[in-house]
Amino acid sequence: MNAFTYYAPTKIIFGAKTTDQVGRHVKEHGGSRVLVIYGGGSAVRNGTLKRVTDSLQAAGLDYVCEGGVQPNPRLALAQALADRYQDKGIDFLLAVGGGSVLDTMKAVSHGLTCGSPIWDFYEGKRTVTAQMPMASVLTIAAAGSEMSNSSVLTNEETGVKRGVNTDFNRPLFAIMDPELTYTLPPYQTACGVTDIMMHTLDRYFSDTDGDGITDAIAEALLRDVMDAGRAALAQPDSYQARSEIMWCGSLSHNDLTGLGHTKDFSVHQLGHVLSAKYDIAHGASLSVMWAGWARFVCDTDLNRFANLGRRVLGVTEADDGIAAQQTIDRFEAYFASLGMPTCFSHVPEIGVVSEETLAELAQRCSYHGSRRVGVFRPIDEGDMEEIYRSANR
Ligand code: NZQ
Ligand code: ZN
Repeated sequence: MNAFTYYAPTKIIFGAKTTDQVGRHVKEHGGSRVLVIYGGGSAVRNGTLKRVTDSLQAAGLDYVCEGGVQPNPRLALAQALADRYQDKGIDFLLAVGGGSVLDTMKAVSHGLTCGSPIWDFYEGKRTVTAQMPMASVLTIAAAGSEMSNSSVLTNEETGVKRGVNTDFNRPLFAIMDPELTYTLPPYQTACGVTDIMMHTLDRYFSDTDGDGITDAIAEALLRDVMDAGRAALAQPDSYQARSEIMWCGSLSHNDLTGLGHTKDFSVHQLGHVLSAKYDIAHGASLSVMWAGWARFVCDTDLNRFANLGRRVLGVTEADDGIAAQQTIDRFEAYFASLGMPTCFSHVPEIGVVSEETLAELAQRCSYHGSRRVGVFRPIDEGDMEEIYRSANR
């Protein structure tokens, strides 16, 4: 196990109806004038936003609401909010939504505390050095942003999707009320389960070996979220299934499942390029890429793929090479069983693309050949093109 520092400071308030406690928690954390940020309207339609503002009001807090965050959240809105609320006395940010709303909130925090332009932080030109007190009421279990140190934005002018990682991105608390996720469309539920699995898999494949407890946590999480994913699709208002998925979502991306080893995250990098170019859901960008990536790299450590299948997917094959293939096939079949795309032609926005487009995708992912990604098996521009090609069917 490598040396590590574990920092997961976000207080978790988990359970049915915790939504109605949000005002008290904002107040306890020093908020008095709150900027509430939400998405495209689901929180208005299903009444969550009203419950949140009622709770803020009951706690005697001032608030202002701003909606309109889109999936694959855009830089322009985050920048506009940071500009609009500079010097307006806001002392607390509250996201009511999923990863897109949370990541917008984090970007607004950067702008309000460290100045603009916000994109500088995503390009690595400036470093985030402070944080506006912030928290979330989570409405979709997926991105794990409620406990993570990341914020991911799309610069719609350049078509680039980038993340910034800093401990100043870690929210003070998260209200996690699984009942809020009953209204998720099946596709969003499936995208969320896929993303949770991928946060775990992108950490599982590492260049470091010998993390017994970390591996065991990751394997248990995968078994659990896969079962719960099936159950939630069969019964969307299953509290049991929704609560398992929600907590798996946070644990999959608060670093617990990767402690003691390096993280790969190639599949996320390959996927971000697809989301930026085609504006497809994050989960879909991952399910189309995973099996192609896995088949490309699995020779690096067949035993690791094989054992993962044996421990998580019921693979019984003794030969590591065959077991590794079965592991990849079974994960791919699971994504398909959730209704997730597993190749480009399953995604209407993409379809089967030209050779030029494959080259362009690899150029984008490699920052025009200037970087390799991943640690299990670092991949370069040529490798990326091969992996994109394997999804191009
Ligand atoms: O916008 P509204 O109308 O609210 O609808 C949303 C949106 O269309 C809908 N939704 C959310 N809660 C709902 C609901 N619909 C009905 N009932 C509810 N309770 O779901 C759709 C997707 O929402 P979004 O916030 O985009 O989903 P998710 O949480 O998957 O976030 C995806 C974004 O997070 C980034 C992704 O790249 C993507 O941009 N990620 C952020 C990470 C982080 N900050 O740590 C890590 C991840 O790997 C990921 O990259
Ligand atoms: Zn993700």
